[in-house]
Formats: sequence, structure tokens, C-alpha cells
Amino acid sequence: MGKDKLKRFEENKTFKSLFQPEFEEVFRKDYHMKGRWHKEYFRNDNPLVLELGCGRGEYTVDLARRYPNKNFIGVDIKGARLWRGARSVTEENLTNAAFLRTRIEFIEWLFAEGEVAEIWITFADPQIRRDNKRLTAPMFLERYKKFLIPGGIIHLKTDSPYLHEYTSALVEKNNLEVVSIIKDVYGSIASGDIPVELAGLLSIKTHYEEQFIAQGHPITYLSFKLTSDKKIVAPEWDHDKYPR
Ligand SMILES: C[S@@+](CC[C@H](N)C(=O)[O-])C[C@H]1O[C@@H](n2cnc3c(N)ncnc32)[C@H](O)[C@@H]1O
Repeated sequence: MGKDKLKRFEENKTFKSLFQPEFEEVFRKDYHMKGRWHKEYFRNDNPLVLELGCGRGEYTVDLARRYPNKNFIGVDIKGARLWRGARSVTEENLTNAAFLRTRIEFIEWLFAEGEVAEIWITFADPQIRRDNKRLTAPMFLERYKKFLIPGGIIHLKTDSPYLHEYTSALVEKNNLEVVSIIKDVYGSIASGDIPVELAGLLSIKTHYEEQFIAQGHPITYLSFKLTSDKKIVAPEWDHDKYPR
């Protein structure tokens, strides 16, 4: 392991805003913060928003700056990436943001029923053909359903036509309510086609996003309400239709 990485891992241990549960603390077992994030960490009842696969946490940090009346937690398994976000939160003393180093597969053991209002999924790997890894596949949505409030929103921002179209097809198949769908985020912002507040939210750029934009990939956005009494099912889907 590189020296820089080791240094970051050491510094990570000093950040009060960074939670790094051990495997045994979250594997098929409720984490001690489950159901207690508001009371014991944020010390308010403001809505809690997660960013899943947050990497360096650009969305978590910038949303926390813009919305002091909401709470934010960025989740990722990579400690060296989370270091960047946790350091910004510490330096700026952002009391409404935190980071959580864990596998998203364990998420239902970290948040309690009704504890989360919204989820952002930012530039997740599309995981072509790997239904057990794709963050918008039924297996994951069923887990998110366990802790999202009724009417809770999922925001998906991606460069991947595969992930965008797969998720749109899943939303349609399960009769979920679409809140917003934008096929070219920056084109729509430039032409003033979307409301100012949403344009502001969507103009936050992540590390991976900067790279995808430089490669000329259009960025898309889809938001929908994950409210359904029925089990979420996969759409009929041609894995070869979209190359990425
Ligand atoms: C392509 S990167 C995007 C990072 C960041 N959102 C951005 O746009 O710069 C995907 C991130 O998701 C994380 N990730 C993917 N699957 C995960 C899982 N099952 N549990 C935790 N983190 C995961 C990876 O570690 C990685 O940091």
C-alpha cells in the first residue's frame, strides 16, 4: 500500500464525522447508530439524505453547504476516497454531514425504518450483467425501501446509458412515480429548461463526472419515488443494447 494511502487511513481515524464499522458490527447485525443518527450525531430532526458510492463525497459536502436544514451521509467502501470528503467536513466544520465506510450491501443494518428521506446515487458503475452489484437493481431497492420514508426519493445521476435506461425501465415496470427525467443535464441547464433549484443541484460535479464529461459522455438524471407495497421486480432487459 502507498504511503499516501496509509497516511490517509491514519488521518481517517481522527475524523469525528467518519464512521468505519468493523465487518462484525454490521454483518446481519444492527449497527449501534441504526435509528440513532438524528439523535446522537446530528442532534436534530432534519431530513437525512444519503449519497451511495460517494467516492470523495462531492455531493455530500456541497449539498451540506447548500442545505443547512438537511443532514447528509456519504457512503463508500474506499477509505482513501472518503478521506477527501471527511477532511472537508472537518475543515469547514459542517455539522450536518458525515461519512460511512461500509459496503452498501449491509445498508439495511445501518439505517432504521423511516430514518432516511432521500438517496443520491452518483456515477455508480453500471455493473453490466451483474444484477447483484448494480445499485439500482431490485436487490438493492428492496433494502433501501426498508428505511426510506413514504414518498422517499432516489436521485440517479450517471454517464451510463445502460444504468439510466435500465433504471428507467425498472421504474416503469414497477409503476414507480417519476419526479424528473433529464437526458442531457448540462444542455438543459445551459438552455434554462429546468427549474433553477434543480439546475443548482445538478451542477455539482463529482471527480468521476469531470472525467466522463471530458470524454464527451452526456450526463443524465432520473429521480423517482421508491414507494410500493409490492416487491420490486427487474424489467425485461437486453444487456447488449447499451455498451456502457
Ligand atoms: C465510479 S465511482 C463514483 C464515485 C463518486 N460518486 C464520483 O462520482 O466521483 C463508484 C464508487 O462507488 C463505490 N462502490 C461501488 N459499489 C459499492 C458497494 N457495494 N459498497 C460500497 N461502495 C461501493 C466505489 O468504491 C466507488 O468509490
